[in-house]
Amino acid sequence: MSKKHSPKTTVIGIDIGGTGIKGGIVDLESGQVVGERFRIPTPTPSTPQNVAKVVKEIVDELSGREHAPAKDAPVGITFPAIIAHGVSLSAANVDQSWINADVDHIFSRELGRDVQVMNDADAAGLAEARYGAGKDVKGTVLVITLGTGIGSAFIFNGKLIPNVELGHLELDGHDAETKASASARERDDISWDEYAVRLQRYFSHVEFLFSPELFIIGGGISKRSEDYLPQLDLRTKIIPAELANNAGIVGGALQAAVHFKITK
Ligand code: BGC
Repeated sequence: MSKKHSPKTTVIGIDIGGTGIKGGIVDLESGQVVGERFRIPTPTPSTPQNVAKVVKEIVDELSGREHAPAKDAPVGITFPAIIAHGVSLSAANVDQSWINADVDHIFSRELGRDVQVMNDADAAGLAEARYGAGKDVKGTVLVITLGTGIGSAFIFNGKLIPNVELGHLELDGHDAETKASASARERDDISWDEYAVRLQRYFSHVEFLFSPELFIIGGGISKRSEDYLPQLDLRTKIIPAELANNAGIVGGALQAAVHFKITK
């Protein structure tokens, strides 16, 4: 086994989304996912019991791999809701039974391992600030993930200010994510140019409210940024996430590693 990916420097990260649950083994030095990611569609209904089972399946698969950390090592998990003190306080794109669920307890019991659970977009933000497009940027960086919903991470001087929910800004009488998320584009079957008009409205407003130094776009469609970013006219630099759709897995793993003192 190469020293570069020794089990001491890897942590499993699991990214729970409204449509898929994916996991990977993260090398904490490079911020890279080692080997293939493993993905299973989010079960329906996406209740705590059903989701926890899928998370266990993914962790078990990853744990059997060559570069996996020890079988009792902590796992980092991201979840698409407000997470405060290990409890989920919202449930925008998952089953409503997650509201007030003790997420720490649910996952640690199912896995038989310590877990650290955090908001999915916060995880993506943390990963981009440490390893990606937000590295060494001073001031406010807003990472906005365009996926099933819209997630947001507020980073100031490299530090995460957690649970900022900018996907739910009310714009023109609508919850912003119902118009400007990637799933809204698919649902309404609109062209990239039409989608860019919606993104313009959204990002101009967020820019006015926060005057950030940098916007980073995360989520699956960060890979297709040439289809909509050139159309946007903003004061603020806006770029795709460097870790693309792996940012959640990497940030979740990083947060667990910091929390359990595997890394600084
Ligand atoms: C949720 C956020 C989440 C985002 C992306 C929103 O609907 O409120 O907590 O980060 O979706 O999954």
